[in-house]
Amino acid sequence: MTTTLEAHVQRYEQSLDACPEAIATVRRIVRTILFLWDRADLSDDVTLCLTELLTNVVKHATCPACLISIQDKPTGLRLAVADTEPAPPVVRRPGHLSETGRGMALIEKTAHRWGVEWTLSGKRVWLEFRAVPQAVSA
Ligand SMILES: Nc1ncnc2c1ncn2[C@@H]1O[C@H](COP(=O)(O)OP(=O)(O)OP(=O)(O)O)[C@@H](O)[C@H]1O
Ligand SMILES: [Mg+2]
Repeated sequence: MTTTLEAHVQRYEQSLDACPEAIATVRRIVRTILFLWDRADLSDDVTLCLTELLTNVVKHATCPACLISIQDKPTGLRLAVADTEPAPPVVRRPGHLSETGRGMALIEKTAHRWGVEWTLSGKRVWLEFRAVPQAVSA
């Protein structure tokens, strides 16, 4: 794993070979980072979607190498996972008895927006999460 943390910029990058053990570790790191960024309200949604994206790298990309990036913006949080597989994810509509095909549908419901960008080595799947407005105390 290679970690990049830029001082004074709310941005975190992590390159890794996706595998179940690394996914579990990254989930814990991301939870900690969101807590430090005062974005713990987004922690469950972000780690759920991150898990789906990384599991997709394991299942659907020919190579496990990927790059996670998280950026905190005034409008919300951007999460992206880049991998070396040019084929994009698709939102499937699985039947009741199907055991797979639900990850992207879950992401579509959880994230505010999502999309795919092609890179020189493959693609980047990005998600945006809206910041939850803080309760204003009287
Ligand atoms: N990183 C990826 N690279 C290439 N294709 C992908 C990637 N992620 C998803 N896909 C494609 O999008 C489809 C839908 O992905 P989705 O996560 O919804 O379902 P799944 O991974 O097949 O099953 P589940 O997530 O329910 O275990 C996949 O079947 C695959 O064809
Ligand atoms: Mg999946």
